[in-house]
Amino acid sequence: MDSASHISRLSVPTHLSLIVPTYNEGGNIEKIIRILSSILDEALPNDYELIIVDDDSPDRTWEIAQALVTEYPHVWVMRRQAERGLSTAVIRGWQAAQGEVLGVIDGDLQHPPEVLLKLLAAIDQGADLAVASRHVEEGGVSDWSIVRRFLSRGAQMLGLVILPRAISRVSDPMSGYFMVRRSAIAGKLMNPLGYKILIEVLGRGDIERIAEAGYVFQEREEGESKVTWKQYKEYIHHLVRLRFSTGRLGRIRQRIDFPIGRFIRFILVGFTGLAVDMGSLYLLYDVLGLGLTRSAVLAAELAIINNFFWNDLWTFGDISKHQQQRRKVLKRLAKFNIICLMGLILKVLLLNALFNSLHLNAYLANFLAIIAVTIWNFWINLKLSWRVTETK
Ligand code: GDD
Ligand code: MN
Repeated sequence: MDSASHISRLSVPTHLSLIVPTYNEGGNIEKIIRILSSILDEALPNDYELIIVDDDSPDRTWEIAQALVTEYPHVWVMRRQAERGLSTAVIRGWQAAQGEVLGVIDGDLQHPPEVLLKLLAAIDQGADLAVASRHVEEGGVSDWSIVRRFLSRGAQMLGLVILPRAISRVSDPMSGYFMVRRSAIAGKLMNPLGYKILIEVLGRGDIERIAEAGYVFQEREEGESKVTWKQYKEYIHHLVRLRFSTGRLGRIRQRIDFPIGRFIRFILVGFTGLAVDMGSLYLLYDVLGLGLTRSAVLAAELAIINNFFWNDLWTFGDISKHQQQRRKVLKRLAKFNIICLMGLILKVLLLNALFNSLHLNAYLANFLAIIAVTIWNFWINLKLSWRVTETK
């Protein structure tokens, strides 16, 4: 389920809303609520809220937290049952929060709570974003393995390559411990993926002044990290998504509104069509001994049917799943076929024009013709074959 959402403007003001995302933190939740409340009761009496966002933990963390709300009146618990994910949980919490300042801290005490006051002070002194960092003075990690240090730094390097403008603004873009002024992200479409909520804030927020405070990432006392390879994959996907939806590329993309993801799937399907085309040409021409033209035409048709099948299932699956009546499927196949055949004609015309009129090298001309026809096939089929129609 897409979790893109806007951070609303305020109704009942409070100064700080601190989100604690939890999944199976039954062994930590009481301790962290007690410690955070005692720090904030002193620093911000009656002017903060602690929001536990739990994704229906099997160890019933949400239930343990819920049982504490009478004793800690500034605490409230959100139990999400249909969604899972650290950064979407934080966004969900911010969406429901009342604070002028929005913060996030892990629920396993690996982020030392006392650093909160440094972050708060920095925001109150005018920073839009205050980040607890492992890579500045007084920062560090306790005993991380070489592998984890390498992965964490490697992820940061990758971020600097794909999204330099945002990632280079802080020393620890992987940090899950920070505070941001609501006004810096209010009205912005937040659409994070996986674990790295900070890069979403850096990528989409109006962040001018940034402050950092060093902290040492502690060892877990209870429970275990939920980080898996899935998070690393999501991180790369998140970076690419931010790359194409923010900054200059984002503005160009918004203006063109070209569905990159779908186009990449269309091209991948095209490659399977190429394999089917070549494979069946070999079977028909070399094995069965049919004539070359007949074999080539049949092979091309088999490739078109193959491409239709995978495009209907995958590339445009989100559209076609609502139009599964046989009549509609056959209509789409017919349209797809005609458009691809017109594409073939267009390719021959383009190839000849590039080769004969522009005197381009035959293979370069063919390559350019294939690119042009692929975009033609994709765009026309998107607009005609897989058009979203009103359900009758
Ligand atoms: N609601 C919710 N849903 N919470 C989650 C989920 C989820 O799917 N997955 C993890 N959490 C909670 C955990 O319960 C914990 O409170 C916090 O998010 C961090 O999860 P960990 O699994 O402990 O992450 P980590 O310690 O390996 O990494 C943390 O520190 C890194 C360094 O700052 C995370 O904050 C990373 O984002 C950060 O880079
Ligand atoms: Mn942790």
